[in-house]
Amino acid sequence: MDTTQAYGRISRILHWGLAALFLWQFLGMAVKLVLGRVPLSGFFVGLHQPVGLAIFALIALRVLWALLNRGHRPGHGAGALGLAARLGHLTLYTVMVAVPLLALLRAFGNTRGFAPWGFEIFAPRAQEIAWMVNLGNAAHGLLAWTLAALIAGHIVMALLHHFVLRDGLLRRMIG
Ligand code: HEM
Repeated sequence: MDTTQAYGRISRILHWGLAALFLWQFLGMAVKLVLGRVPLSGFFVGLHQPVGLAIFALIALRVLWALLNRGHRPGHGAGALGLAARLGHLTLYTVMVAVPLLALLRAFGNTRGFAPWGFEIFAPRAQEIAWMVNLGNAAHGLLAWTLAALIAGHIVMALLHHFVLRDGLLRRMIG
């Protein structure tokens, strides 16, 4: 379990595991954008949906674990910086949930079906549900890159705390 002094082992595994999987997703999509349809981007694109689903499952666990540990996790601190940290984390969690959720909504609504890792999750449907597909098309990629920018800001703040403020904040997640 977490304590007010540091995050516990499960929180840390979820945090760094998700960080690695997000990096993988962004790297793959950046390769696709920069290089176009080459075998390397095909490799990343082929894994994008199954890895995205795994990320979604881990995010659900992470939210559940955060709720279970509510009241005995390291605090955000007082004052304007504390409020900014609280709002920043809330935004990160919201966008983190929304990105795969929108892609899954689109997969549910389109006619192709969805069977990552060989298991059928959504069967192909005869008629697409247009609002689901349109919403996913409009928002999944855009919000995903917004999430990448938020994660970059999160990393900059963590490094600032570690190297400039030297307040030991990063150690709470490193262990
Ligand atoms: C949280 C995990 C995920 C992240 C970080 C992520 C990120 C991204 C990014 C950055 C793009 C590129 C957008 C562009 O071309 O500019 C993209 C595209 C795409 N993603 Fe994801 N994705 C995730 C989960 C999923 C899931 C679960 C699915 C399927 C159910 C999915 C399906 C797609 C598809 C089909 C595209 C290409 C069409 C589009 O741009 O919307 N993604 N994703």
